[in-house]
Amino acid sequence: MKSLRLETIASFVEPEDKVIDIGCDHAYLPIFLIQKKICQKVIASDIHEEALKIARKNIEKNHLMEEIPLYLSDGLKNVPDKDINTIIIAGMGTNTILHILSSLDPFSIDKLIIQANNDLPLLRKELRKKKFFLQKEKIVYEKNHYYIIGIYSKNARRLTSKEKYFGPYDASNHGYYISLYNHFQTINHKLSWKKNTKEKFFLFLKIQLLKKYL
Ligand SMILES: C[S@@+](CC[C@H](N)C(=O)[O-])C[C@H]1O[C@@H](n2cnc3c(N)ncnc32)[C@H](O)[C@@H]1O
Repeated sequence: MKSLRLETIASFVEPEDKVIDIGCDHAYLPIFLIQKKICQKVIASDIHEEALKIARKNIEKNHLMEEIPLYLSDGLKNVPDKDINTIIIAGMGTNTILHILSSLDPFSIDKLIIQANNDLPLLRKELRKKKFFLQKEKIVYEKNHYYIIGIYSKNARRLTSKEKYFGPYDASNHGYYISLYNHFQTINHKLSWKKNTKEKFFLFLKIQLLKKYL
């Protein structure tokens, strides 16, 4: 596959996983998972008919229509097949991801693989409320962006408050420091134009915390 980001997401999938890729877009990831025989079952969905049309074409081109059922659905709402245990959501903002995960109930999900485009502290916090804990994160650099991909599961340990904000510390991963540094720059920038003293105070606290890591 051409995308290191999608390949890294695939590397988090295990053979016993029954996967749904929500927001599959052109279905590159489901096709890769099946072609490489990474797991036993993959279904895919998207909210936009146009995206699904292209997904369908790609799946047909690869002769995988039997293997990868496609559903037009807002999140899990119109997905009739409840026999899945792993959800992948990638390339979306945290608010959309949380909206999608608000209808988890009829499904017995053990694992979430999520690449959110923003607000990871909010994502980690809200998933914790749903009893999904961050097990591992990987940072991938592609097309001038750092992408943070996380596995959340029901049996992972609880995070410390620092980890909730910055993610689990990974000394072996150079990208971890770069992403912290980027975070630091963003907060510093906000601090320079925010007028509200309370908000400034909290930003200042975040900077102090970040400095301990950098
Ligand atoms: C930026 S693309 C990411 C595609 C792919 N997951 C990836 O990471 O490369 C986001 C996709 O999510 C779909 N999407 C957005 N909101 C959705 C929702 N509520 N339910 C299902 N799909 C959604 C969009 O139609 C789009 O195809």
